Amino acid sequence: MIKIAVSNEKGGVAKTTTVVSLGAALAEAGKKVLLIDLDAQANLSLALGIESDQVKTCISTALLNATPLPGLIFSLPYLPNLAIIPSNHEMTQAERFLSVQHDYERALDRLIAPLEQDWDYILMDCPPFLGMVTLNALITADLLLIPTQAEYFSVVALKNLLNWVRRIRAQYNPNLVYRLLLTMFDRRNRTHRVLAEQLRLNFAQGVLETFIETDTKLRESPIAGLPVILHAPKTRASVQYRALAQEIIAHVQETTLQPA
Ligand SMILES: Nc1ncnc2c1ncn2[C@@H]1O[C@H](COP(=O)(O)OP(=O)(O)OP(=O)(O)O)[C@@H](O)[C@H]1O
Ligand SMILES: [Mg+2]
Repeated sequence: MIKIAVSNEKGGVAKTTTVVSLGAALAEAGKKVLLIDLDAQANLSLALGIESDQVKTCISTALLNATPLPGLIFSLPYLPNLAIIPSNHEMTQAERFLSVQHDYERALDRLIAPLEQDWDYILMDCPPFLGMVTLNALITADLLLIPTQAEYFSVVALKNLLNWVRRIRAQYNPNLVYRLLLTMFDRRNRTHRVLAEQLRLNFAQGVLETFIETDTKLRESPIAGLPVILHAPKTRASVQYRALAQEIIAHVQETTLQPA
């Protein structure tokens, strides 16, 4: 089982879009994929058609009370290999009260451990800030996937996140590997091309080969409550997220993701 945390403290950089689209592409490629919504905004849950009143036990309750995760899983009829543990506004409770508990940093790690044999991939959608829940996700993760736009402010926000990664590696999870994913890329935009080039120079193999271009179908698919590869199978975003799934699978097959 490979655990991927999708995180960036910058808002609106396509974290949730990447979790839905990559998760569905991995499932389509035959992998068993569990998505976990860790954000109180519950955008991931909504994007897959799950409203907050359907969520009886939120992952927040599980984190605070060590509730086993299997009872919280929703299967998705249109892609049998794909399932989700949804979230709702109660997620703010975990953010507030987790840190008073003993060994709270590994609460999510303990919940996920019994699922080891059941899933090939777990993808965690983190909120847009570096709080207790994101900390838990990065401590359990094998791979931190950082969606980032080729914009100046996005590049600045990366520095803080990467400082966090260094601290988490030193204290909790020495094997945490990160990869940057360029999103909402516009190849006609000169600034995008220049910043993308700089990111590749600075981070080398830390930047994934696949990048995701702007595609309005990605804005429509949450309204349909479907991943883009089902909503618009042939659109550019579907092709690119499928390529991303193959790149991730290839990385995992090499087993040793080279630290970046
Ligand atoms: N490649 C793309 N092309 C066009 N629109 C996109 C693309 N990727 C994401 N979007 C849109 O950008 C908006 C923000 O995306 P998303 O919600 O995935 O970001 P996020 O990082 O999860 O945001 P938050 O920080 O609020 O959790 C959404 O409306 C989404 O549909
Ligand atoms: Mg989001």
